[in-house]
Amino acid sequence: MESVASKAEARKAVADARCDGKTIALVPTMGALHDGHLALVRAARARAAYVAVSVFVNPTQFTSGDDFDSYPRDLYRDLETLAAEGVDLVFAPSAAHMYAPDAAVTVDPGPLASRWEGEVRPGHFRGVATVVTKLLSIVRPDVAFFGEKDYQQLQVVRSVIADLDLAVTIAAHPVVRDRDGVALSSRNVLLDAETRRAARAVPAALDAAAEALAWGECDARALEGVMMDALAAEPLLTVDYAAVVDPHTLEPASALTAAARALIAVRAGAVRLIDNGELVAPPEGPQRKGTGR
Ligand code: PAJ
Repeated sequence: MESVASKAEARKAVADARCDGKTIALVPTMGALHDGHLALVRAARARAAYVAVSVFVNPTQFTSGDDFDSYPRDLYRDLETLAAEGVDLVFAPSAAHMYAPDAAVTVDPGPLASRWEGEVRPGHFRGVATVVTKLLSIVRPDVAFFGEKDYQQLQVVRSVIADLDLAVTIAAHPVVRDRDGVALSSRNVLLDAETRRAARAVPAALDAAAEALAWGECDARALEGVMMDALAAEPLLTVDYAAVVDPHTLEPASALTAAARALIAVRAGAVRLIDNGELVAPPEGPQRKGTGR
């Protein structure tokens, strides 16, 4: 495995692999790697002959009051982990190298970025859209892997790729969860035992909404109420939002006639946790189950 810190070295390594006829995959990360990241790396390994992983805690996507300073970092351990996964290239630049001091151009993430995380963290998706565009332009992968864990980010990235005609395929990976259902996140290491236990209310709320839908509750506001009730049962959590949205526009859904997405963001002490799940309307209500036979 090659580990480089400069854009030129990264470009050269990838260019050599491309000359060898290899398909290139990129997995962008901010490090502090866990099994959620590694699921993306393994999917990339299965799909492409050459796998590059970027490890960069991007300052421009942290807004004031965010946790840039306390964000977990462990590059040495990450490099060991990625070498064991058979990764070919790790690109781990410094912030000073990534952004020239006079850099003034950013990528406008468009309307998908205005709600939810965009509202709570103004400027966050501009930072994400800009750094992802830069990473794609440096590595020029055939395919880039993103997790559904950050569902709004995934949709923002998809729209950046589509609207700027970037020549890359986006591969999405489902949310990887701990045994108790809590979505894996680099920030989980910042939770103490009590808040980590409280975090279980988040997947429980997503499950409660899916269950209510399966039992015939198709009204999006009512499903949001179900999630709020489940979250309210846990006093250590403060809810930023619990929303049922159209999976493409991320606008609030109304009646669930097609697939929707449930999005949740909570604060557990100083730590923000986000999660989401697919809501698929049942073809027929459970009351009517079997009547067509
Ligand atoms: P980071 O939070 O490190 O996540 C890197 C990638 O791993 C993202 O695509 C994220 O959705 C995915 N991921 C994280 N936890 C996951 C889980 N439990 N299951 C599935 N996928 C998971 O997201 C970022 O970094 C940054 O915003 C980045 C895209 C690198 C731009 O700076």
